[in-house]
Amino acid sequence: MNASEVRQKYLDFMKSKGHVQVAPAPLVLENDPTTLFTGSGMQPLLPYLLGKAHEDGTRLTDSQPCLRLQDIEDVGDPRHTTVFEMLGNWSLGDYFKEEQIRNFFTFLTKEVGLNPEKIYVTCFIGSEKYGIPRDDEAAKIWQQVFKEAGIDAKIVEINTAENGDKRGIRSGERIFFYNDKENWWSRGGGIETTPIGDPCGPDSEVFYDFGEDKQDVEKYGQSHPASDGARFMEIGNQVFMQYRRKEDGTFEELDKKNVDFGAGLERITAASMDSYDVFRISLLKPIVDKLEKLSGKAYEDNTAEMRIIADHLRGAYLLTAQGLKPSNKQQGYALRRLIRRAILKALNLGIEDNFLAEVLPLISENYQDLPDSILTNRDDVLDTLSREEQAFRHTIRRGIKELNRLKEHGLTGKELFMLQDTYGFPLELSVEEAKRQDITLSDDWQKEFDAALSEQRERSKTASKGMFKGGLEDHGEMSTKYHTATHLLLAALQQLISPDICQKGSNITADRMRLDFNVDHKLEKDELQKLEDQVNAWIQADLPVVHDEYDKSYARDTLKAHGSFWDKYPEKLTVYTIGDFDKPTSREVCGGPHVEHTGVLGHFKIKKEESSSAGIRRIKAILE
Ligand code: ALA
Repeated sequence: MNASEVRQKYLDFMKSKGHVQVAPAPLVLENDPTTLFTGSGMQPLLPYLLGKAHEDGTRLTDSQPCLRLQDIEDVGDPRHTTVFEMLGNWSLGDYFKEEQIRNFFTFLTKEVGLNPEKIYVTCFIGSEKYGIPRDDEAAKIWQQVFKEAGIDAKIVEINTAENGDKRGIRSGERIFFYNDKENWWSRGGGIETTPIGDPCGPDSEVFYDFGEDKQDVEKYGQSHPASDGARFMEIGNQVFMQYRRKEDGTFEELDKKNVDFGAGLERITAASMDSYDVFRISLLKPIVDKLEKLSGKAYEDNTAEMRIIADHLRGAYLLTAQGLKPSNKQQGYALRRLIRRAILKALNLGIEDNFLAEVLPLISENYQDLPDSILTNRDDVLDTLSREEQAFRHTIRRGIKELNRLKEHGLTGKELFMLQDTYGFPLELSVEEAKRQDITLSDDWQKEFDAALSEQRERSKTASKGMFKGGLEDHGEMSTKYHTATHLLLAALQQLISPDICQKGSNITADRMRLDFNVDHKLEKDELQKLEDQVNAWIQADLPVVHDEYDKSYARDTLKAHGSFWDKYPEKLTVYTIGDFDKPTSREVCGGPHVEHTGVLGHFKIKKEESSSAGIRRIKAILE
């Protein structure tokens, strides 16, 4: 089946079950203090999930284009994309677990035609801390539904916090209980990071099994539904949205119990083809085929690059078709980043001429069935993006010319900075070009580059102030910013004062941050100034902040993440990376939440340095 057929079948099926199809919301949001893009199908429905009456009733369905820029570093694997379409259905205090589970199972097995033997599901194990029970109700319904399909499904607990990947699956096991990292849904992620005031609840996720031969035991351990690797792919998430987080951090039951269901159209389509690679479906394959033609190279040898280009150009198409223009600010910058990244990857493939005009029509063709009310500017896309491509290629050519002029005695970090700052030639490209031409870089080029960047910041100290003027940001958001600033300060301490510095304590409010750390002396004024400059340079550089879950040993030994409690951490943990993934500015074990990119932090200022206890100093700082 192709994606259009799956989408249509889903909407028709939901309508046959009494749902009203509602128009999807724009992907690009205006005046939303919490986020720049629509990231899930439920986002436009927040007020209704919190109790407001919807004019179309209590059963709704749609297909919502979504963008999750936080997944950008994962693009390149077989299933992650920045943009995707989320098939959604909602019960606003109408049906609950039984009808939802039965409907979705029927849709998958009868409408899409998936083999029920290949379907695995997960449910919430419960939270003692917050008094939320294990979701035996959902597990039992699943067991019954499988039984009616002739499958004897065993229910088991796998607490990923304790025995994680090593456990694998034993015979007959099909319904798995996991902790809140996997089976609790809120816009902030797990139970601890649920935003105050948001609706949330336990969820039940559905996975498709691509077969044991897709396991990579050496890399990921034994497969089970929520493990990494290509064997299992999540193809739908049913959130039993029955709680709301209160100011004091606890959860209260909502007056009405809702269902918030979301499924990736791309992933269900891939499962319908038994393809573990979503880049083989109708929405993406034509782009990949075109890239093979343009580059004369094979997808199987250049898989990650072609996936990134296909994903980013599709994202750029959908954003531009909604009227967004590339710029250096917020959403426009995200768009610019997608296009530039795609062009850089295309260069790696040897595509040196303008190529967007060849690819964009293929994407546009695939989105004929999205309404004009969503793609308001589809006719402008080719023009807008071709101009952006030309400008960027011009920048690249000029940069290379300038680099060739400078290269005779090798290149210093200061020169690399000048290429970026004056000529817009990205550091990443300079480094690659230097490698390609065998140009020597000075030993300390990275330090020199960073220093030049901080100097420049001194000269233009105002830029990132006042991004959220007008009191839009709430306290939750401010604390999130302070949280990210704390990571940057710790990284600066380790880089500028001593690599042995560890976090010994931290306290964050909406008005300031406080960090305690080990060091053998009182920090001098000039040291504090350097720290402040370094953090501000990183803010100015607008570094991406990404996170993912890893095995403890991988996080510690391979990723070299910073952590203060390795003995106490669970086997699976979340790691936050700020900056370049391969050469991170900061990498820490942390539950989050954090901002998505450092540019939103504003200006960082150290207010006080004092003793906390023997051998421990304390810094208090603010963002202004
Ligand atoms: N809101 C749920 C999700 O995004 C369905 O996964």
